[in-house]
Amino acid sequence: MSKAWGGRFEQATDPRVEQFTESISFDARLAEVDVRGSQAHARMLGRVGLITSAEAEQLCAALDAIGQEIARGELPFQTSLEDIHMHVETALIQRLGDVGRRLHTGRSRNDQVATDLKLYVRDAIDQVDRLLIDVQRAFVERSPADLEVILPGYTHLQRAQPVVAAHYWLAYCEKFERDRQRLADCRKRVNISPLGAAALAGTSLPIDRHLTASLLGFAEPAANSLDVSSDRDFLIEYCQCLALIAAHLSTWAEEWILWCTTEFGFLKLPDAYTTGSSIMPQKRNPDVLELVRGKSGRVMSAAPRLLTLVKGLPLAYNRDLQEDKLAVFDAHDTIVACLELMPAVVLGGGLQVERINARLEEGFLDATTLMEYLIKRGVPMRTGHETVGKLVRDCERRGCRLAELSLADLQGACPQIEEGVFGVLGVANAVRALVSYGSGGRASVEQQLSRWQQRLGITSAG
Ligand code: ARG
Repeated sequence: MSKAWGGRFEQATDPRVEQFTESISFDARLAEVDVRGSQAHARMLGRVGLITSAEAEQLCAALDAIGQEIARGELPFQTSLEDIHMHVETALIQRLGDVGRRLHTGRSRNDQVATDLKLYVRDAIDQVDRLLIDVQRAFVERSPADLEVILPGYTHLQRAQPVVAAHYWLAYCEKFERDRQRLADCRKRVNISPLGAAALAGTSLPIDRHLTASLLGFAEPAANSLDVSSDRDFLIEYCQCLALIAAHLSTWAEEWILWCTTEFGFLKLPDAYTTGSSIMPQKRNPDVLELVRGKSGRVMSAAPRLLTLVKGLPLAYNRDLQEDKLAVFDAHDTIVACLELMPAVVLGGGLQVERINARLEEGFLDATTLMEYLIKRGVPMRTGHETVGKLVRDCERRGCRLAELSLADLQGACPQIEEGVFGVLGVANAVRALVSYGSGGRASVEQQLSRWQQRLGITSAG
């Protein structure tokens, strides 16, 4: 078959070159957006009189049919046709003859592929955003029940201060909220139309780029054809957004993996989300969480991969850019797979309250609250820190807790201490004492929770 660009060629392409240069094996998934972009282009050509409006109608109808055929897997792909754009156009010409041969007027595959990618990424952003909301909802939905549970908070993975368990869940809601904001910001730059930049320089034909931009829901057409036909910043930004989502997912996964160990014993995952060992009969492994953690590497590598691809490329389009899709699609699919599973795991993780409570008084989680009690009684912070440090050392020697020291012991260390000190000692008291805005104390967590319930439209009862 002769190529769409074959006019000046005398020799046929070496089949190995066809194999080497094809992208249909991975860009077929752009079919739907390619059809949408071509329909907008055809409507515009009809509107400005470069084709008749009857021809525009014919093109749009045939494009619909071709799109459906591809979706049903009925349009055979051929390496010789290179990419999705040539497949769609060739099918169109087969159906409509000369009318089909007019579609590519005032357009190049360079602005076409950039347009397709922007439409694709815009949808991808919206999809990931919805999935992030589902994850936030899962955390918020389990929070009311977990207001009663106290967990140790850690720094350096050493016991630090106690927090209400739901404080952990709402911490992840905040992280995913920032991810959503980053996606929304990225979307603004995605939502600028490349269509009509043509090969690199625009065109001498009277096209209407504002019209195609608005037909496709873009905010406006890009202002510089050289820039937009070579621009892949938006793909890099999108992958950077995904990288941070992956970072948050892997932190959560790692935390829960630790919590599922015998050593921690804080959490039990439902059978449906764990797998067994082929040799050790007792095992229940958190493979889902491990793969969420593991797959994060794939997602994080996408942006550096793209940066390496665009580094040093002269303006404008270069065929190197064809490789961009592989990184983006893989990162997107991986994040979607993780996010789709996550709500069920979040809701299914059962806190082992008895086991948590059995060891909650270990690790001096109330030491900082005791120091703050001293500060409230006029002791300078550094002095209070030292005093409590010494009391902790005494306790470690004796093998007891701060709450088990006598008033005489405590007053011996610091005369400002009074009977009321026992109201801040012990983990339950320590967590109750946390009152600052955004803290892990009960009142603050309840306040956070009702804000999240409102934002996500969840009633406190449900
Ligand atoms: N398949 C190509 C890509 O993905 C489409 C653009 C081809 N443009 C060209 N001038 N050969 O980048």
